[in-house]
Amino acid sequence: MQLLKSLGSVSAIIGAQWGDEGKGKATDILAEHFDVLARACGGANAGHTIVVNGEKHVFHLIPSGCLHEGKPIILGAGLVIHLPTLLEEIQLLRDAGVDIVPRLYISHAAQIVLEYHKEIDGVLEEKRAKLKGKGIGTTKRGIGPAYMDKAERCGLRVEVLQGSEQDMKALLEEQEQRIRDRFGITVNVEQELASLVSAKKQIESTIKNNIPELLHAFVAGGKTVLIEGAQATLLDVDHGTYPYVTSSSTTLAGALQGLGLAPDKVNSCIGIAKAYCTRFGEGDFLTEANEEDGQRLRDRGGEYGATTGRPRRCGWLYIPDLVYCSMINGFTHWNITKLDVLDEEESIPVGVGEENGEVIYENLPGWKESTVGITEFSDLPENAQKYLLFIEDKTGVPVALVGTGQGREEMIVRS
Ligand code: GDP
Ligand code: IMO
Ligand code: MG
Repeated sequence: MQLLKSLGSVSAIIGAQWGDEGKGKATDILAEHFDVLARACGGANAGHTIVVNGEKHVFHLIPSGCLHEGKPIILGAGLVIHLPTLLEEIQLLRDAGVDIVPRLYISHAAQIVLEYHKEIDGVLEEKRAKLKGKGIGTTKRGIGPAYMDKAERCGLRVEVLQGSEQDMKALLEEQEQRIRDRFGITVNVEQELASLVSAKKQIESTIKNNIPELLHAFVAGGKTVLIEGAQATLLDVDHGTYPYVTSSSTTLAGALQGLGLAPDKVNSCIGIAKAYCTRFGEGDFLTEANEEDGQRLRDRGGEYGATTGRPRRCGWLYIPDLVYCSMINGFTHWNITKLDVLDEEESIPVGVGEENGEVIYENLPGWKESTVGITEFSDLPENAQKYLLFIEDKTGVPVALVGTGQGREEMIVRS
């Protein structure tokens, strides 16, 4: 595959909107051609869906390429890991006949998300709602509070699983005191401990204190690495639509930081964006569609969250955002996904700029023909090709992959 050559030996897939662009599907497809799979940051706020032989799998913590047997799976230091979710995912994979534990490498430095983080997440959202009339619309997976603890340097890291049950209990009791003083929340030490003990039993052997060395050794040894981003650039805590963002660094740079991988090792970065746009939770969305158009896109695109089931807000592409995300991450390729969702549109508005607070739209003609399952660019209706070339032209980044359905095979790979 020509594309593979241009991706080189280390490649990352990074969201260019507000998440749910289809990172899981792209990772699953490309994973076949890479040796090592890695997740670098975020936590179980991510919901990455793949559909293989008509069967749907949703991953929250484990890279979506994990169904490809035998490939080492790395979870980097930048992650915040809810252990019961991780164990559940491991078990679901086992039930599907895939045991990933022997090839799982978890950074000792990744943070642990405990139940109290989730509770604090809910309390903080309520406080925001009272104070400002609305919250951030978090996934309530405890992500913000876990990163707060990390930044405050009082979080529990995965390495605590290497200690004794007694040590873990003592650490939890310390947390109990702190959380009660700060948030008035009672930590259920017994329940938290049981979950740590269970994780220790099942995954202690996967904890590695040398993930950066391991990764660099893989690369030096000629192994190829695929990094699956989580969340997306517009949700980045520094460069996104703050404060309506997540609490991690979701960019390519953030992923490298989360893994401890040197920037000069990366050969390519695939920006991933839907052919339209969606967003969860609160925050600006300049090109949000009106009620009727939004509902149509939501229905056709199945725009309900993989993690929370909440309906996603729907709208149109905004080229300046794509250009911005491309600049920050250095996109070398686009994967434009869900083209098929636009099949019925008469014409497709694309935001190309702003004047006096109003979005300037160009209306591109629709194609009114099914693109579902098409795998060759040249088989696409002419207007669909023009739509993709418009994105390419306006962003200066080649469209290398185009999603035409949920299934693993429903992808155009342009050489
Ligand atoms: P992620 O978080 O970026 O991995 O994306 P999600 O899995 O949360 O959401 C993407 C949704 O779109 C999932 O339900 C995918 O199965 C689906 N999907 C991905 N690519 C395509 C595509 O090209 N066409 C259609 N119709 N659905 C797609
Ligand atoms: P994937 O990896 C879509 C959004 C939440 C909320 C904000 C903060 O599947 O693309 P958080 O729970 O992280 O504190 O929520 O970020 N958000 C996502 N939206 N996809 C995601 O992940 C998201 N992860 C977080 O909806 O607006
Ligand atoms: Mg998702």
